[in-house]
Amino acid sequence: MVLPDGRVLRRLAPSDDLVALTDLLHRSYKRLADMGLRFVATHQSPETTRERAEEGECWVVEEEGRLIATITVYPPDPGDGTRWYDRGDVAHFGQFAVEPELQAQGIGSMLIELAEERARAFGATELALDTSEQAGHLIDYYEARGFRFIEHVQWRSVNYRSVVMSKTVATPPSG
Ligand SMILES: CC(C)(COP(=O)(O)OP(=O)(O)OC[C@H]1O[C@@H](n2cnc3c(N)ncnc32)[C@H](O)[C@@H]1OP(=O)(O)O)[C@@H](O)C(=O)NCCC(=O)NCCS
Repeated sequence: MVLPDGRVLRRLAPSDDLVALTDLLHRSYKRLADMGLRFVATHQSPETTRERAEEGECWVVEEEGRLIATITVYPPDPGDGTRWYDRGDVAHFGQFAVEPELQAQGIGSMLIELAEERARAFGATELALDTSEQAGHLIDYYEARGFRFIEHVQWRSVNYRSVVMSKTVATPPSG
């Protein structure tokens, strides 16, 4: 899909450069690394980027041949590992990043709206995410976009406790 500013929003393609996508994640998540928060995306390998992208739908924004933003949306899956994520009506997203010098232009908000649309297409009524409980700026960001606190979770892969947040994106079927 071509966006009004000439950028292109599309699914990650097999021909895309996973090293470039991983570098984008590392650059964007550096602020969190600088806060001492070892999000997986601060240091993950291109292979991990690929594995995580393939577990869901990975979307990218391209500008003049360069990947400048990404989000991966995961359909409901009972093996996702938290009480909330394991529900059959909960999709979630991750690997969410915008090129640092292009942040605060609305690209992230547009990608969250896309994730909401994809969650509905998966038949989910909730779209969730997790982030560090110490990342107050991200918790504020998600709250401003309609997400609410659900639960705490301690992933073994990171050095902080996470919060799971969620937003209702569709009305549950009645009956
Ligand atoms: C989180 C992240 C993806 C958000 O992306 P983004 O493109 O900067 O998000 P937006 O532009 O939609 O919103 C950022 C701020 O800019 C503001 N903004 C949006 N459009 C704007 C515009 N045209 N002009 C000025 N400000 C604008 C938004 O209102 C928002 O401020 P708010 O939180 O006070 O409401 C990005 O900051 C990022 O990559 N961070 C590092 C990685 C990360 O933290 N990932 C999430 C881990 S859980």
